[in-house]
Amino acid sequence: MRKLTYFVACSTDGFIAREDGALDDFTMEGDHFQDLLNEFPETIPGHLRKQLAVSHDLRHFDTVVMGRRTYEVGVNIGVTSPYSHLRQVVVSRSMSASPDPDVELIRENPVEWIRQQKRLDGKDIWLCGGGALAASLADEIDNYILKMSPFLMGTGIPLIAKSVQRQLALQRRQNYDNGFMLLHYTAIR
Ligand SMILES: NC(=O)c1ccc[n+]([C@@H]2O[C@H](COP(=O)([O-])OP(=O)(O)OC[C@H]3O[C@@H](n4cnc5c(N)ncnc54)[C@H](OP(=O)(O)O)[C@@H]3O)[C@@H](O)[C@H]2O)c1
Repeated sequence: MRKLTYFVACSTDGFIAREDGALDDFTMEGDHFQDLLNEFPETIPGHLRKQLAVSHDLRHFDTVVMGRRTYEVGVNIGVTSPYSHLRQVVVSRSMSASPDPDVELIRENPVEWIRQQKRLDGKDIWLCGGGALAASLADEIDNYILKMSPFLMGTGIPLIAKSVQRQLALQRRQNYDNGFMLLHYTAIR
């Protein structure tokens, strides 16, 4: 059965972006970043893949699901199909139509949609973010892969935008000299 994996960059205190949505705190330099390119090539947006010499392999995911505000980060710079190498889904009640034929819009009940998708064959589903969509899908998240950077943001957009209690089993931890950690957890049901 396919899994839903929340693969996301966060600060040590669990924020995924500044209050205004800025992501500048998360560096794209260092050993950890090269490992991310090699291990999760499908999570690099199309407009950066050539510049970063990323292959087109889909190693873990064939589908990405994004909340409307996460999707808008790309739209605001003219990128309406950020992951054209994947099946792309944006979740929003306020959008009346997708601005791009390669991006599907789900307006209602993303939980039911995820449950249906899990029953299909294929690679896993990448929950790209953000915290609000993660809150909506919290009961369906099977795996968390946290790209944790060694700083405190203090305030910002949280990993999950509601109070969720869940035991996690640490499956793998990669440590880097620069303090970055890649943490792989499964959610215990
Ligand atoms: N650090 C990282 O790796 C990372 C990854 C992804 C995103 N981010 C950052 O996260 C920020 C966005 O996160 P966010 O938490 O503010 O927003 P978000 O989760 O991206 O989007 C929230 C929106 O998704 C829609 N939505 C969520 N649940 C829904 C449901 N059950 N039914 C229908 N629609 C639903 C709603 O859209 P409508 O209001 O249109 O109805 C809601 O306002 C951005 O700044 C982005 O840069 C960071």
